[in-house]
Amino acid sequence: MTHFVWTNNLNTGQPFIDEDHRKLVSMINTFHEFIEQGKGRDVTGKVLDNLITYYNVHFAREEMEMQRISYPLLEEHKQEHAGFIEEVTMLKKNFDSGATVNPVNVAHLLNDWLRNHIVKVDTKLAAALKAAK
Ligand SMILES: [Fe+2]
Ligand SMILES: [Fe+2]
Repeated sequence: MTHFVWTNNLNTGQPFIDEDHRKLVSMINTFHEFIEQGKGRDVTGKVLDNLITYYNVHFAREEMEMQRISYPLLEEHKQEHAGFIEEVTMLKKNFDSGATVNPVNVAHLLNDWLRNHIVKVDTKLAAALKAAK
């Protein structure tokens, strides 16, 4: 299981965004460690719960800033957030209802979504925030 490695292209230059992302990465890496110890299945439900809570806080922070600067891509960025919350919530529901949820697949999904979203979507927001200052 590959840990989520912080790479330079993940730095958006907006401290509040980068700090939240580092926190999310560290939560995801804790999950990876549990998986390596063979405890992935035991913690999947709790991990998804914690991530949903923290992602909601983080998304609200970004969305407030988007509103503040009347960000033109606000709607599509918000939809990306909502879609991810929906996906993870569904995953959690499946897990709770006893469906077979493979922790390694969950970890991959968490890694890939965050990395992609930061590089493709959040960096644009960070640039707009910098320009708006
Ligand atoms: Fe975002
Ligand atoms: Fe973000």
